[in-house]
Amino acid sequence: SDVYRAGVSGARPAVPTQPGALEEAARAALSPEAFAYIAGGAGAERTVAANRAAFARWQVWPRPLRDVSVRDLGARFLGVDRPTPLLLAPLGVMELAHPDADLAVARAAAAMGVPYVLSNQASVPMERVAGSVPEGARLFQLYWSASDELNASLLRRAEAAGAEAIVVTLDTHLLGWRTRDLDLGYLPFTRGMGIAQYTSDPVFRELVRARAGSSTGGSKVRVTPKTIAAGISIARNGAAVTGSPSLRGNLRSPLPRLAVETFLDVFSTPALTWDDLAKARTWTSLPLILKGIVHPDDAARAVDEGLDGVWVSNHGGRQIDQSVPTLDVLPAIVERVAGRVPVVFDSGVRGGADAFIALALGATMVALGRPYAYGLGIAGETGVREVIRNVLAELDVTLGLAGLTAVRDVDTAALRRTDG
Ligand code: FNR
Repeated sequence: SDVYRAGVSGARPAVPTQPGALEEAARAALSPEAFAYIAGGAGAERTVAANRAAFARWQVWPRPLRDVSVRDLGARFLGVDRPTPLLLAPLGVMELAHPDADLAVARAAAAMGVPYVLSNQASVPMERVAGSVPEGARLFQLYWSASDELNASLLRRAEAAGAEAIVVTLDTHLLGWRTRDLDLGYLPFTRGMGIAQYTSDPVFRELVRARAGSSTGGSKVRVTPKTIAAGISIARNGAAVTGSPSLRGNLRSPLPRLAVETFLDVFSTPALTWDDLAKARTWTSLPLILKGIVHPDDAARAVDEGLDGVWVSNHGGRQIDQSVPTLDVLPAIVERVAGRVPVVFDSGVRGGADAFIALALGATMVALGRPYAYGLGIAGETGVREVIRNVLAELDVTLGLAGLTAVRDVDTAALRRTDG
């Protein structure tokens, strides 16, 4: 109702409430490369479309004449009562959308009481995000590196920086066939973007140093977060060489290339198996959630192996073209998990009615991806805040119009299945 009151009083929102208009406004605000990276999917983008189409197979039953004047969006997740069932999904390289990147997202999430999952590919080191938004509830997302020492270091840092849980993303052991990026010849990582968790990591810098030593025969390259960052920034922007002698040295040094090459080597491992996951327990005592689970058998195995949560996701359709849409498999996964661990849902959520449907089908929490990146691109922190507010406001309205007063009471009785 705050949203309506603000609207009718003439205050114009910073971002469109209509999902299609939100995407179009982001397209206008961002460079073609940045928009392509964020909006794009794998191949012919049939999974992106299928994620949306899956929602059309469900309809919400309106149920009037029940007193719904007091409504509660609260949800319990990882043993904590949360004000809402919304999460911000981990999105890498948000410097593409806005210079404040993850700092703006973390601030907006904290202001709205929504937990934020910091991506392994975030643009700001996790310690800086934690230091600047200490009140925010946050999780850290790990891409399982080919280097176990690096995995251990990243998880140690996440724990020290106050992460509540670790989300291990499993669907990116190979990078998807990203056609928009391929056609533009644009992959942000190769330009040194989205690798801040690595360049700020002592184990990673050791790996870069070893590579520098072997490629230049004991080079004098100084491998510190500052020199890597300065080198990358100069390489990326072609900045005028007006800085200190050490900056000028960096321009000639192979450091940015070495850091990016090292990153590309260790980013992930296609050899990862279920057996490896046990190692994570020796690196951290935080709860472990598996993201990228789409098959009910994998969900059941995750619970059997003692994992603490299952995150149903197909990476927003960015990995396999013509993948299984997540909403279609959510009910079977919820059935197999049988309430033993929380089930997070994402891929295709664009508004509060979508969130309502996923919750009715048994999701514990619903995560938002691209829409908040669009908000960030259009209006920075304010934009992210408004996108979150809009999803929650629509969820609240949908809840009440369906004759329900609490998110925890939402189940399949609120839905009608269509044949679509
Ligand atoms: C992602 N996603 C993602 N997932 C992850 O585990 N780590 C990451 O670094 C990223 N990075 C990333 C960047 C961008 C630009 C997008 C769009 C997505 C996937 C993300 O967490 C989530 O699963 C999807 O975005 C959900 O789908 P929707 O809401 O975008 O349809």
